[in-house]
Amino acid sequence: MIVLADIHRLFRSDEVETSALRSIDLNIEEGEFVAIMGPSGCGKSTLLNTLGMIDRPTSGRYLFKGQEVTDLDEAALARLRRDNLGFVFQSFNLIDELTISENVELGLVYRRWAGKDRRARVAAALDRVGVGHRARHYPHQLSGGQQQRAAIARAIVGQPSLILADEPTGNLDSENGEQVMDILKSLNREGATIVMVTHSPKHADVAERRIDMLDGRVVISASRAI
Ligand SMILES: Nc1ncnc2c1ncn2[C@@H]1O[C@H](COP(=O)(O)OP(=O)(O)OP(=O)(O)O)[C@@H](O)[C@H]1O
Ligand SMILES: [Mg+2]
Repeated sequence: MIVLADIHRLFRSDEVETSALRSIDLNIEEGEFVAIMGPSGCGKSTLLNTLGMIDRPTSGRYLFKGQEVTDLDEAALARLRRDNLGFVFQSFNLIDELTISENVELGLVYRRWAGKDRRARVAAALDRVGVGHRARHYPHQLSGGQQQRAAIARAIVGQPSLILADEPTGNLDSENGEQVMDILKSLNREGATIVMVTHSPKHADVAERRIDMLDGRVVISASRAI
């Protein structure tokens, strides 16, 4: 599904240059569950944003489902994202002024589905993560765990084939963290490819492959014997 070849990402500001990614080679197969680990600043989020086509590499090749991504323009990237990707962030990123249901509907923005169909999909996604009863509430009225599950509903409402999660359990207590992991596991069993950044070795163990990063490089990529 994904082939990265010699990907570099250099951030330049007036004074400093940071090599966030240094020569990353990575293949991810359809249906895999991959965990990315490594110390703060090693490039995990930059790698995830690269996979998610919201950050462009400075050099290197990125093939997504056989298509070269690095020379696509913004509109083509937006289409690829819309049709294939779902994002889950550490900080939930729900919009305070919208209800939970409206937040999830944002995951369908630009999709030309009829209103009735949209509402049914939103309701199904919220039920799936166990916050259907909170559809009309606002984010601040929900617990952290519920907000994160609503954020997952937003990510999956368009039925993406690739789910990218950046520390999805980072702001949760262990019980809510387990619930989020259970949801990700079941999405993976149903066929979604998942790439998840985590600081938790326990949550990384859920994945079938673990990638360890250090200083912008992949240092270990190991599959778990199943
Ligand atoms: N927009 C940016 N401009 C300049 N430097 C950046 C930018 N984004 C990231 N960096 C730098 O790139 C490096 C990798 O950052 P990244 O956010 O990918 O780390 P991370 O592994 O996700 O860390 P954490 O575990 O703290 O989230 C860091 O040194 C960071 O300061
Ligand atoms: Mg990060």
